[in-house]
Amino acid sequence: MCAVGGIIRRSLARQCPGNGGSWDSFLETLAHCYPVESDVGEVSLQEYMTSFRPRRHAATYGEISLEGMRSLLKAASVGEDDVFCDLGSGRGRAVLQAHLTTKARRVLGVELSAERHTRARAALDRMRSNGLGDPTREVEFCHGDMLEQDLRGVSVVYCASLAFRAEVVETLFRKLRREACSAGMRLFTMKPMSSALGSELQHLEPRGSLPVACSWSSEVEVFSYVLNTPILVAK
Ligand SMILES: C[S@@+](CC[C@H](N)C(=O)[O-])C[C@H]1O[C@@H](n2cnc3c(N)ncnc32)[C@H](O)[C@@H]1O
Repeated sequence: MCAVGGIIRRSLARQCPGNGGSWDSFLETLAHCYPVESDVGEVSLQEYMTSFRPRRHAATYGEISLEGMRSLLKAASVGEDDVFCDLGSGRGRAVLQAHLTTKARRVLGVELSAERHTRARAALDRMRSNGLGDPTREVEFCHGDMLEQDLRGVSVVYCASLAFRAEVVETLFRKLRREACSAGMRLFTMKPMSSALGSELQHLEPRGSLPVACSWSSEVEVFSYVLNTPILVAK
């Protein structure tokens, strides 16, 4: 690429909202990360049988809209001390949006599907190799089951959990309570916390819900909570 291209790329990196730039420059950066708008589609039967079925995880795919994620990040007041995490991150767009439009010091995506995870890694590689984003802040994609990942230190969690079994969301809540760094973790989930959590619900402060557009519906409710009493364990 010629020097002019380099200058354009550097200016895009500077201009994203996370670095004080505009929404349009963010869209332009994202187009470099995802040059082909391809359908993510279903996982292969083999991947379903080996990765999803054994623990009855949901393989369904759909994405939150860019505007929806923008509202969510605003509601979370993501700042430079935050670690943002998308649990079930698919092709990684929400994670890259969090990196490009906020100052979060670290953003992380966890995805069970190898195929979707590979797409997320490719988008991140494109962002980095084009000199886009902020190289001083960490972006990470992990392949695996969210219930088995090390989530210590996350402070803002988003989970498009609509298709997940209630037990998965409950197990996730208990895990986050053990691993979140401190009180004040913000949790955004499409499936509300169930009454099955009983007295444990007292550790979550409900903060209402926000409607967001997603690829499968123009209005999906995302429930917002703040974790007020994590279980503090030695690290
Ligand atoms: C509805 S999609 C959400 C994609 C993206 N987070 C968004 O909102 O735009 C849910 C994703 O969760 C993934 N998933 C389901 N169970 C999982 C698990 N136990 N661990 C990690 N990812 C999981 C699915 O493969 C799917 O890609």
